[in-house]
Amino acid sequence: MKVAVVRSGDTSTEREIKLSTDLGLPTIELPSAYLPSEVSDYDYLLAYRDSRLLLQCTGDAQTGELCVDFSDAKLNFRANSSIRSQNIAKALGIKGSLRPAVLDATAGLGKDAFLMASLGCKVSLLERSAVVHALLANGLARTGYYGEEIDIILGRMNLHFGDLMEFVADSKQFDVVYLDPMFPERRKSAKVKKDMAALQQLLGHQTDGAELLDYAKLLAKTRVVVKRAKLSPHLGPGKPDIVLKGSSSRYDVYLIA
Ligand SMILES: C[S@@+](CC[C@H](N)C(=O)[O-])C[C@H]1O[C@@H](n2cnc3c(N)ncnc32)[C@H](O)[C@@H]1O
Repeated sequence: MKVAVVRSGDTSTEREIKLSTDLGLPTIELPSAYLPSEVSDYDYLLAYRDSRLLLQCTGDAQTGELCVDFSDAKLNFRANSSIRSQNIAKALGIKGSLRPAVLDATAGLGKDAFLMASLGCKVSLLERSAVVHALLANGLARTGYYGEEIDIILGRMNLHFGDLMEFVADSKQFDVVYLDPMFPERRKSAKVKKDMAALQQLLGHQTDGAELLDYAKLLAKTRVVVKRAKLSPHLGPGKPDIVLKGSSSRYDVYLIA
């Protein structure tokens, strides 16, 4: 996938140059009112709009543009509507006032991490795609933009760049390791959320699920939680100890003896 950083008339260039240097990506100069669909040399553009970093798809109007925004209404509705009784809280093993320290080892756009942090957990986010990591870093850096309540939640989240298979942590530093590594198989009838469709297109097919589970088990003190599409097979060969089914997704929980 070919990605470029946009420099356009009405944005300052310093942050664009820093981003392109950090990610090793080319920059392209475009007029301020450009349409991503008119750019043919790149599949994706990274562009700042005010303080927000956007990933724009050039080809596919269906997937549009993507940005990490923790003030998203749907996300906050989920975080606020009795989250303690939702499956994600049960999967983490939350009881009483104790909150596990979580490593979200496949952070993506940070939505699950945000939900876990809104439950009161300290969440370390790990992401191996440099482009996705840049979007997440931008979403997390915009404190002050969201308001105090969300900033408190973001204060429990800290971001790391890298691959779980190469992640060196102090042994058993995390109570829970959370995995959501793969996108569900696309069926013709299945509606894939727009942001996930864009991410899926950018990252391609992910194949290392079983190894991830083995590695996660080495890092977790109490459990590994794996988020799966409702009908997807388990991640590895063994069966989970607990299975929590929701309307479209499922949590497979592997307890660490
Ligand atoms: C399906 S998305 C996760 C979505 C996320 N749960 C959310 O709420 O936005 C999977 C993400 O995990 C990342 N990933 C997959 N394998 C990884 C690994 N071994 N180490 C770190 N990140 C990984 C991918 O780059 C992708 O961004």
